[in-house]
Amino acid sequence: MKLTVTGVGYVGIVTAVCLASMGHEVTCLDVDEIKIALLKSGSPPVYEPELQEMMARHAQRLTYTGDAEAAYRDAEVIFIAVGTPEQPNGSANLAYVYEAARGIAQNASRDCVVVVKSTVPVGTNDRVEAIIKKNLAHNVKVEVASNPEFLAQGTAVQDTLHAARIVIGVESEAAEAVLRRVYEGFGQPVLVMGRKSAEMTKYASNDFLALKISYINEIANLCEEVGGNIDDVARGMGMDPRIGDKFLRAGIGYGGSCFPKDTLALHYVANQFDKDLKTVKATIEVNERQKARLIYKARKYFESLEDVPVALLGLAFKPHTDDLRGAPAFVNVANLLSEGAKLSVWDPVAMPAFKKHYPSGLRYCDNIEEALAGAELCLIMTEWPEVTGLDIQSFKRLMKRPLVLDGRNCFSPALFAGSGIVYDSIGRAVAS
Ligand code: UDX
Repeated sequence: MKLTVTGVGYVGIVTAVCLASMGHEVTCLDVDEIKIALLKSGSPPVYEPELQEMMARHAQRLTYTGDAEAAYRDAEVIFIAVGTPEQPNGSANLAYVYEAARGIAQNASRDCVVVVKSTVPVGTNDRVEAIIKKNLAHNVKVEVASNPEFLAQGTAVQDTLHAARIVIGVESEAAEAVLRRVYEGFGQPVLVMGRKSAEMTKYASNDFLALKISYINEIANLCEEVGGNIDDVARGMGMDPRIGDKFLRAGIGYGGSCFPKDTLALHYVANQFDKDLKTVKATIEVNERQKARLIYKARKYFESLEDVPVALLGLAFKPHTDDLRGAPAFVNVANLLSEGAKLSVWDPVAMPAFKKHYPSGLRYCDNIEEALAGAELCLIMTEWPEVTGLDIQSFKRLMKRPLVLDGRNCFSPALFAGSGIVYDSIGRAVAS
């Protein structure tokens, strides 16, 4: 089939390449000339395992362009995968989605299905359809369908090729038939529902996962008070298939491009309907507080952090990405600097991006050892393999005072027993 994907961000490029791998002819459209030039030279605009090799393998079925007319003219299916960034009031900014809808209306010159992949509030698909119908330049029939994605960064290709389900929201059998053909080769269960239910499924899924994380984090904090161990508790809970063992890792909270934005957006939508989604609201509040959990812990060990040399390991919101959106590192760095700590940070990939926010005022280190040298406190923000694989003796050898506050439970506390290193993590007893 002839497909077009508009917006070559995370979701767009992964979707496009996976669709090409199933034999479709895919045109990728973006207004960002730099991204298009990069793609033409064979490089994806985002780092994602397997993506570049797949782009090369299916290059003959992938076209990259900034020309909307050429991209939309005779596409059978057009995927909208542009960004929906969060606005200051928490709502999703839909300007790019509506701009794409207008571009499609002006250029589509054959009957087609427009598929909204971007995460959008309930009712947006209706609006997209209305915009397209109002602005159609040619006498063609355009149907709009919702098809949310559930891919996670770092595993985006595999998540797309082996999705647990494909959710399709349609208002006609014809649109359903077209989308079934698009996904025929994937061999995944296809769930067909109304457009509004599909839009809601995306938010409800992401917010539920975020809720699960905030819940386990609250239980972890309580474990510290009552003397429980969150690893045992999570294992005990996770073996119940009704609960499941995923997303029960306690830590310093979730970040990333989806959970923070999607919880705020659903909360905002509920307010619009004069409803208060108490669980979503609590999820957000718990997460905000949890991000500063290590600072709270640090106060147990220091009266003041002024002039204290602090090593901070990891900046990205999770390993294997340089994405800093919603990363707990921001709250921690801001707190530490405002209290006058002397900060040395390390991250294997996210430092250049972080430097744009903090060009000065802290020391960027090329390796973990450099960050730890002379520190009196080490804070672990991201579970990079370089951190989880670290010989714990390094803390003792390099730090002036071996005190480790681990926000991602990278080590077993048992390792630290009798080590002379104070190891304080999330939801587990302090070891030393
Ligand atoms: C997430 C969803 O998994 C994906 O389905 C959706 O489409 C986009 O949002 P992503 O943001 O890439 O994907 O990362 P994910 O691996 O889900 O982690 C999100 C955050 O939650 C990270 O900050 C991670 O550290 C945190 N997390 C995750 C926990 O704190 N505990 C867990 O048990 C799992």
